[in-house]
Amino acid sequence: MKITPLSAVGAEVTEVDVRALTDTQDAQLKAAFAQHGLLIFRGQDLTETDHVALAERWGQINTNRFFKAHADYPQIALVEKMPDQIQNIGGDWHTDHSYDQIPALGSILVARTLPETGGDTWFASMYRAFDQLSNGLKTLLQTLNAVHSAKHVFGNQSEYMQTNMSQKRMRRPDLADALPDPVHPVVVRHPLSGRPVLYVNPGFTIRFDGWTQEESAPLLNFLYQSAVVDDQVQVVDWRPGTIAFWDNRATWHFAQNDYPGQTRSMHRITIEGEALQAHQSLQTRPKDAAPGR
Ligand code: SIN
Repeated sequence: MKITPLSAVGAEVTEVDVRALTDTQDAQLKAAFAQHGLLIFRGQDLTETDHVALAERWGQINTNRFFKAHADYPQIALVEKMPDQIQNIGGDWHTDHSYDQIPALGSILVARTLPETGGDTWFASMYRAFDQLSNGLKTLLQTLNAVHSAKHVFGNQSEYMQTNMSQKRMRRPDLADALPDPVHPVVVRHPLSGRPVLYVNPGFTIRFDGWTQEESAPLLNFLYQSAVVDDQVQVVDWRPGTIAFWDNRATWHFAQNDYPGQTRSMHRITIEGEALQAHQSLQTRPKDAAPGR
């Protein structure tokens, strides 16, 4: 198995069959996932059953509440755009499930039908998004929490839901409207690597806790813009046999919508994560606490 870091975010994994991982390969992949936050596998041949089995190696599957599910595999969410559809799913910077109290670990996306050109997915690193900030801003952010929500994206009043509902790609807006908006630390101690990650995103973060939306917007927008400077964005092209496995705590992603009149059909399985803890700065960490990994 060969793991080659990509230029901006993630690593490409080749010379492996993910249907038959050895324990050693499994351990190497888990280490690479914690380090890079994104693994791109090429040349794989996965059935739906294989996809489910691969996801289960990493944790419990989160059955998606809002996306249309595969007819025979409810664990598989369909991320589809048909020739007559204008809007795609995931067509802006976001991380999946930050609107949950316990956000998902990550998602495994398998290409099923691809457009002739276009349909890339862009990724950004939230390790880097935090690391590049000034010490002053880092210290401020480490004192803040942010409120996240699914309502404006998947709820009854969302434009996204109106469009996609009518095209039968989405469901259960009532569940989004009933979901309590969780509060997460703005700087999270990454559960696998122990490193600080910036945990706000344009898709689902609505404001800083204790701040109004108007007060929050300028700082959030600054963070969003500085996280996706061109040379820090990883463009991932899809080919038959490509699988992307991203960490929802360490990365954002953005599905490009540049293939009008063509079909793009992907299968996504999302894996449950764990409650997120704040990453405390050295100044604020209690004296007897263990040093961060
Ligand atoms: C998503 O946002 O989960 C979908 C990404 C993609 O289709 O490339």
